[in-house]
Amino acid sequence: MNTSASNINYPHRHLLGIEGLTAQEISALLDASKPHVEQNRRADKTLTTLHGRTLINLFFENSTRTRTSFELAGKRLGADVINMAVSTSSIKKGETLIDTAVTLNAMHPDVLVVRHPDSGAVKLLSEKVNCAVINAGDGRHEHPTQALLDALTIRHRKGRIEGLTVAICGDILHSRVARSNIHLLNAMGAHVRVVAPPTLLPAKIENLGVEVFHHMASGLHDCDIIMMLRLQVERMQGSFVPSTREYFRFYGLDAKKMTAAKPDALIMHPGPMNRGVEIDSELADDITRSAICDQVELGVAVRMACLEVLTDNLAKTL
Ligand code: CP
Repeated sequence: MNTSASNINYPHRHLLGIEGLTAQEISALLDASKPHVEQNRRADKTLTTLHGRTLINLFFENSTRTRTSFELAGKRLGADVINMAVSTSSIKKGETLIDTAVTLNAMHPDVLVVRHPDSGAVKLLSEKVNCAVINAGDGRHEHPTQALLDALTIRHRKGRIEGLTVAICGDILHSRVARSNIHLLNAMGAHVRVVAPPTLLPAKIENLGVEVFHHMASGLHDCDIIMMLRLQVERMQGSFVPSTREYFRFYGLDAKKMTAAKPDALIMHPGPMNRGVEIDSELADDITRSAICDQVELGVAVRMACLEVLTDNLAKTL
């Protein structure tokens, strides 16, 4: 076991959400990610830390970044990685989520990485298995590894999180990324704003410890970090914005709206991006201002650390 992972303060079997984690636990996971950033830039990227361990990716929703980076993370640590294709599995014959979980559990995996369209489904599954479970996104609830990789990106580009003003902009209502980031950024001492039309904000969002803005100019004023979110149309029933064109006019990030933020403000986006809807294409590609590729890169390191820490915790309980 990698020493940095075996000594870290994360006393949990699973990673189901950021809510409830302490700043120390979050920092511990970020610190354990750091060595992997350099490792992933080397020609030889493979370690044997998780040799003999089995990771199963079980994704009930589409994914590019999360699924690929968990697969790479597992393989770079030497684990056996199975990507279960839900579309060709017995789920299509009516097998339930729980029966699927119990079936996979009987094959003795060490970690299940699960994405599901229903909030709470991953926690339910975690109660039926003996292995560690990582939530790769459940409905509009949480996406903890996204918030961790966002935090690592902010640390890399800004040197700290505490004291920064972060504006999370767009479809907050349907976003698990927003929810996980709000919990993490508050725990780490950032000032968190949400910027969205009233139709795209959950009721009583201010109870999560955020300042609410309905206009980009005021919401972005003097902020350090701008996190843009896409319209999650797959979770929408009915119409939440008049048109994507009008949405871009009022809420899409462009050079003019950016002038409200600090001159060195950093642009972030969890992906997938809808260019010309929530973000101007040129801004998204401007690597002096945009950290979008850094987020993807650091996501592999964060997921390696999470796999190491959880498998180590599991070994201690056996
Ligand atoms: N950010 C994110 O979760 O992207 P994917 O849906 O591609 O995994």
